Amino acid sequence: MCFEVATIDGEKGKRGTGCSDVGEEECVLYEYEKLVPLRIGGIDVRVPENNSLLRCFQYLKLYPISMGGFCWNADCRTCEVVIQVGTEPARRVLSCQTTVIPGMAVLEMTEKLKFCLRNLDSED
Ligand code: FES
Repeated sequence: MCFEVATIDGEKGKRGTGCSDVGEEECVLYEYEKLVPLRIGGIDVRVPENNSLLRCFQYLKLYPISMGGFCWNADCRTCEVVIQVGTEPARRVLSCQTTVIPGMAVLEMTEKLKFCLRNLDSED
């Protein structure tokens, strides 16, 4: 399922993001069956279930996240975000260590993540 790609309107499409640019054996996403809704700074996207938030960001912006110098193992803290799920209080987490939950909202993020996820609502 790694070759399906997300579009901003929530439909599966062919934008060429995520693992669609690499072979299946190189896919870094955990196996997933469906895309789930995620709100990032007021923009609604759909991302692979069962994956960390940082992997979901990578799915949306493959090269900026892949080349962003993230440690992926809770050392650098440059992936820190503030999330909220439903009516629960917002909390600060490491996106590399936090699994996406359908309907989760990302309220704040580091400057590095902002840079990597810039133009999230465009086709680039
Ligand atoms: S990527 Fe370094 S702490 Fe998450």
